[in-house]
Amino acid sequence: MALVTSKEMFRKAFEGKYAIGAFNINNMEIIQAVTRGAKANNSAVILQVSRSALKYAGPKYLLAMVEAAVEETGIDVALHLDHGPDFETAKLCIENGFTSVMFDGSHYDYETNILKTKEVVEYAHSKGVVVEAELGKLAGVEDEVNVDSANATYTDPDQAVDFVSRTGVDSLAIAIGTSHGAYKFKGEAKLDFNRLENITEKLEKAGFAKYPIVLHGASSVDAQCVATCNEFGGKIDGASGIPNEMLRKAASMAVCKINMDTDIRLAMTAAIRKHFGEKPSSFDPRGYLGDAREAIQRLVEAKINDVLGSKDSL
Ligand code: G3H
Ligand code: 13P
Ligand code: ZN
Repeated sequence: MALVTSKEMFRKAFEGKYAIGAFNINNMEIIQAVTRGAKANNSAVILQVSRSALKYAGPKYLLAMVEAAVEETGIDVALHLDHGPDFETAKLCIENGFTSVMFDGSHYDYETNILKTKEVVEYAHSKGVVVEAELGKLAGVEDEVNVDSANATYTDPDQAVDFVSRTGVDSLAIAIGTSHGAYKFKGEAKLDFNRLENITEKLEKAGFAKYPIVLHGASSVDAQCVATCNEFGGKIDGASGIPNEMLRKAASMAVCKINMDTDIRLAMTAAIRKHFGEKPSSFDPRGYLGDAREAIQRLVEAKINDVLGSKDSL
């Protein structure tokens, strides 16, 4: 067991009709919580690092902590760059031991997205690293970029086939109605599952059988967690996420990777707010960060068991 690519994880996930959780990491407590949660359920897991996380912690710290977590737990972990903005960032991560990188060229025009993705794919593959790319635009906030819902565009199935065959990318993030952040739907939650099915069918017909699809913006924004934040001084109004039922359905289809960051942020914040609310005299970081770590581990275990279906995938 070691740092691995997601290739084998996705092959098994597609066949087993489940998905691997991809959790955003920013510090030691999150890394420990996610890997211990995965270990407790004998599940493979993806730890993903955004550009802002890279800036916050630094690639060397992140890699060293992830390696420690792999050694402690002995599980299969893929270390992935989330929303890589350019070739240089992807290269930096590959040089620092990442086993998977995303190049997100979804804000470029189609041909530029293909060209830039291809450049990353060629370099990554020469180093044994896999690549995820994105086609279509998700609404929401990611890495200080804010896409409003009017500018979000769902993934075109024919374009998806053309994109995969021309770039050689290993997995594809698609837009079917999810969005980043804690405010996903104003009214009822709705995902375009027909589009997902269509994309998969067209890929299969074009010779890309069992092609792994990635779902970004997939936090469920647990109402109880938001309520705890608000009960202890927070002000998070109108938050909503993707219902777990829909995530289960996506995981049973071609979605092999489900991305969650907001849920970790909320679990961590709720635990820390509760800690200070109940223990106003506390000022030992190990107390409140320890509570946060436990809350994140509970979240990860619940996702693996009740939503992703990746329990015993090792
Ligand atoms: O998709 C974006 C992730 O939630 C990362 O967010 O750039 O604030 O680390 P971040
Ligand atoms: P959430 O904001 O729904 O957690 O999505 C995270 C994500 O897609 C990271 O790439
Ligand atoms: Zn994302």
